[in-house]
Amino acid sequence: MRRAMAEAEVGDDVLDGDPTVRRLEARAAELLGKERSLFLPTGVMGNQIALWVQGERGTEILTDALSHIIDWEICASAAISGLQIRPVTGKGVMMDVEALERAYRSPVSEWTPRASLVCLENTHNGAGGAIISLGGMRAMSDAARRFNCRVHLDGARLWNAAVATGTSVANFAACADTVLVSFSKGLGAPVGAVIAGDPEFHTKARIARKRFGGGMRQSGILAAAALYGLDHNYELLATDHENATRFAAIVEKAPGVVVTPPETNIVMMELSGSRNTTGASAGFSAAEIARRTAERGVKVVVITPTRLRAVTHLDASTEDVVAGAHVVAECIADAYERSAVVLASHGD
Ligand SMILES: Cc1ncc(COP(=O)(O)O)c(C=O)c1O
Repeated sequence: MRRAMAEAEVGDDVLDGDPTVRRLEARAAELLGKERSLFLPTGVMGNQIALWVQGERGTEILTDALSHIIDWEICASAAISGLQIRPVTGKGVMMDVEALERAYRSPVSEWTPRASLVCLENTHNGAGGAIISLGGMRAMSDAARRFNCRVHLDGARLWNAAVATGTSVANFAACADTVLVSFSKGLGAPVGAVIAGDPEFHTKARIARKRFGGGMRQSGILAAAALYGLDHNYELLATDHENATRFAAIVEKAPGVVVTPPETNIVMMELSGSRNTTGASAGFSAAEIARRTAERGVKVVVITPTRLRAVTHLDASTEDVVAGAHVVAECIADAYERSAVVLASHGD
């Protein structure tokens, strides 16, 4: 990948075009079944450009309550585009069509917020890399059309959904007007994403990208990494998924943790089993476990005070993942034992 970047043919993508960026944009548009795509530095920029262009100021976005747009984009939709978010919670861990229909405010009136956009996320990061089936996507997309809403798909991790299900990214993307995909996650590029849609969207998105400070010059160096990721790393995603399943199987044997069976490359671990009701003060918090695993070379992310996330990726071999899982399991088991001891002494 580094060599491909060094050898990339470049131009000026703000001025008159960069040939490698054009190649990537054409390839991504074709893969996603859209007319045009636009290269961007980050996924967040792609989501926010989609919201800026398609959401009408002073209206609502309907999206999953655990979506990346809500939890990890620091209120950008309000700060930048004047959009209110209506978080939607489904029966299970993700938004579903029934919940979406309930969240839509009807009848439309002069006094209630009107929705202009529905955002979907697949795979769903906050739900532990869970996949929305093509049927589920279609049902929500159809509902959005009935509400006269446009549809944006945050597909930063859509490659994983495609590999896990065998459904093409184009079939998923067909459920939305615009789709974001990232190259800097499972595909292993250092930066980069594209947002794809029709030519009218593309023209507006290009202007928005410049306004947001995302116009890049010799960005072919970065596009080359994304192209390399598509050519060489796409097939490796299946291994990441298998490794996540291995990781989960090891960690779930530890006491005091509930592991969500991974559908792709994300493993969510809920530290629910402390026998001490004041578990956090007994050192049985997610932050404490993350600190202890990091000391032993395994990085996991704290999602809530009791929830940890691990992600498998191409830089961690199967052996690394198995060894890492044992470290995490040991740290949790150790904290569990200590919390039980504290509880016993409190009981005296
Ligand atoms: C679903 C989803 N959307 C968007 C993003 C944002 O991507 P970036 O970090 O490139 O801004 C992420 C990053 O983890 C993500 O998981």
